[in-house]
Amino acid sequence: DVIDAEGLLVLPGFIDTHVHFRDPGATHKEDFYTGTMAALAGGVTTILDMPNTQPPTDSLPHLTEKAAIAGSKAVVDYGFYLGATDTNIEEAATIAREVAAMKLYMGSSTGSLLVTEFSPIYRHFSTFPLEKPIVVHAEDEQSLKYFGALGLQDHNQARPPVSAQIALSRAIAIAEKTGRRLHVAHTTTQREMELIHEAKQKGVRVTCEVTPLHLFLNEEDQHRLGNFGKVNPPLRSKSDQAALWRYFNIVDTIGTDHAPHTREEKEQPYSKAPSGMTGVQTMLPLLLNAVSQGKVSLEAVIERCVVNPAEIFGLKTKGALQVGKDADIVLVNPEEEYVISNEQILSRCGWTPFAGTHIKGKIQRVFVRGNLAYDQGRVLVQPGSGKPVAYQG
Ligand code: NCD
Ligand code: ZN
Ligand code: ZN
Repeated sequence: DVIDAEGLLVLPGFIDTHVHFRDPGATHKEDFYTGTMAALAGGVTTILDMPNTQPPTDSLPHLTEKAAIAGSKAVVDYGFYLGATDTNIEEAATIAREVAAMKLYMGSSTGSLLVTEFSPIYRHFSTFPLEKPIVVHAEDEQSLKYFGALGLQDHNQARPPVSAQIALSRAIAIAEKTGRRLHVAHTTTQREMELIHEAKQKGVRVTCEVTPLHLFLNEEDQHRLGNFGKVNPPLRSKSDQAALWRYFNIVDTIGTDHAPHTREEKEQPYSKAPSGMTGVQTMLPLLLNAVSQGKVSLEAVIERCVVNPAEIFGLKTKGALQVGKDADIVLVNPEEEYVISNEQILSRCGWTPFAGTHIKGKIQRVFVRGNLAYDQGRVLVQPGSGKPVAYQG
């Protein structure tokens, strides 16, 4: 067939290396079908799913269980993270080839995965294959505990001033010592960007992610959004937000941290409301809009949302449009304008913090491995059409 793309941009499918699709265990929030439909509608043709599900993806049986679920439900291609625990050091290393990376929570977040002590962190860093990234949620557990003990959970009132620096410095130091690849999830502050910049200059094998949430929202939006804007790490000050853009040249990946929770869960009292917002469907639209505003170039976006993710996570057949790669293609009308609304959101929880945002640049069609999978609002493929990604090496 001939594809008429006159007047349209032809982009490679986006790769979101940071989603929480909640399957198994919390499918009232999201499952592999609803999550991957949201991805598809957002021009994301490959996702890597985080391990903080129930059960957590921390062993071969749990990984096998999740792979079977994804195999029957996904409509885009997918890979998995293996969750680090205090005790799964040897097992993690033996199943490393089955996953995109390890995820290690140095600070607590949704779910029960947490590794805070030096010894298990050091052993994971030195035992997990050095070429496979370990992705860290590097928020300082001590300061979180301290503020929690004071009853100051509200990030509006008590924003731990050094919440990420201690954990991040530790992670960088151990990565340097062990010579391993380290990828820092959701960096949000100027200080973190400085630490990463310095480490990169020293030759430490560290890369980093920022989220669209922290690029496009700040603490003023948190006041407007209330619990719906509660996230780990929290939305930061305008000056930290500006720092992410200032340091954009050393940002390696943009990942959404798509972390759906239902409205009912979010409408609980602040201290009880879970942290996280949706994002997989709105990343490309927000970035297209930023391109239309001259904030960033389309090339810089594709580098961080396609080229670098494929390279860092060793996704063999994914990446820029070229021979040898899958024909994952997104057609965009760069002139079409619309307003984001909750009704458009295909995630099961049905809301986005970006409702009301005016966007220039609309996703028209999405192809996954050459198949037309999404056409102007309609998902054309069946659950199970998504395939597991293949890894380099
Ligand atoms: C994430 C979740 O809900 O799974 N929440 C969040 O606020 N980002 C977990 C995480 O990425 O820390
Ligand atoms: Zn996290
Ligand atoms: Zn996350």
